[in-house]
Amino acid sequence: MSGTEATSASAATGMVVARRVPWFRTLARRGRQTLHTYASITRELLANVPPTAEEEAIPDADRDLQQLTVLVETLLKRHYVHLPLPPRELRLHVGTRTTAANFWAQGLSSSSRVTHYFGESPSGPILDWGCGCGRTLRWLLGHELWREHYRGCDVDGAAVKWLRKQTGCQLAICRNKPPLPYDESSLAGLFSFSVLTHIRPEQHRDWYAEIRRVLRPGAQALLTVQGSDVLRNPARYRLRTKTLASLERAGSAYIQCEGHYKDASLVTEHFTRAQLEGLLTVEEYNTCGYQNMDLLLVRRSH
Ligand SMILES: C[S@@+](CC[C@H](N)C(=O)[O-])C[C@H]1O[C@@H](n2cnc3c(N)ncnc32)[C@H](O)[C@@H]1O
Repeated sequence: MSGTEATSASAATGMVVARRVPWFRTLARRGRQTLHTYASITRELLANVPPTAEEEAIPDADRDLQQLTVLVETLLKRHYVHLPLPPRELRLHVGTRTTAANFWAQGLSSSSRVTHYFGESPSGPILDWGCGCGRTLRWLLGHELWREHYRGCDVDGAAVKWLRKQTGCQLAICRNKPPLPYDESSLAGLFSFSVLTHIRPEQHRDWYAEIRRVLRPGAQALLTVQGSDVLRNPARYRLRTKTLASLERAGSAYIQCEGHYKDASLVTEHFTRAQLEGLLTVEEYNTCGYQNMDLLLVRRSH
């Protein structure tokens, strides 16, 4: 836009404002130059100035999201240990919605559970089993002792390699069957968000035994499983009758879906408690404690 065009645009804006806002009309009468100056200031301040055609083409919610995304990214860079947003492909490996806002919000939610249970200053290594591309990790990096004690592993080699490049954290590529690449009784804690939810129910007991093996006696693990919400609101999930019947009768069901670990493993509380029997003690079982998943706190007692 040329200088003259800009001036006439702000003058036009000023006229619109002058028509609608009484005090501005008085001001406008006092002189064209004053009108120009105030028009450009007022344009920033008044919501009733009509948007440009370009602005109008974007729905309000999208525009707000764009602005908030820039705002959050700027604040994170300025005030936090900054980890760039992973490529869209890797974000798709850990969820179905790939917006920055969703990625940050999910990580904020999981990391706040982690600091609630393990504190902001862990005293030994804590494993993020199924860490993906660091959705939870990015929010823990702000704490010095988490930077030291965080351990992450995932079967997703691309995600682990990307995270290794971005952070100095200790990360490993693991297999989709036990054992994990950690020594017996070596971990002060373990957490895992939405991992067992993609592993077949018949493999859960083996994984609980493996979690017990790597935890130090007395250490805790925070895990999520899915099933209670499905039983509460079956209509929302539009399951096949056979799947729902299996969950109700056998306590577990498995649904295969396209994509990186998008299968859904459904288990009841009763099923999960039975799988944990004799391995790990259930200290908390929070139905729908993490989004639509159940959140469990378990302990290796001895
Ligand atoms: C829904 S994503 C959750 C990722 C991460 N926990 C988060 O909340 O951002 C599931 C993750 O589990 C990983 N995964 C699936 N099976 C695994 C296994 N047996 N061992 C380690 N990671 C596994 C997938 O590669 C994927 O990164």
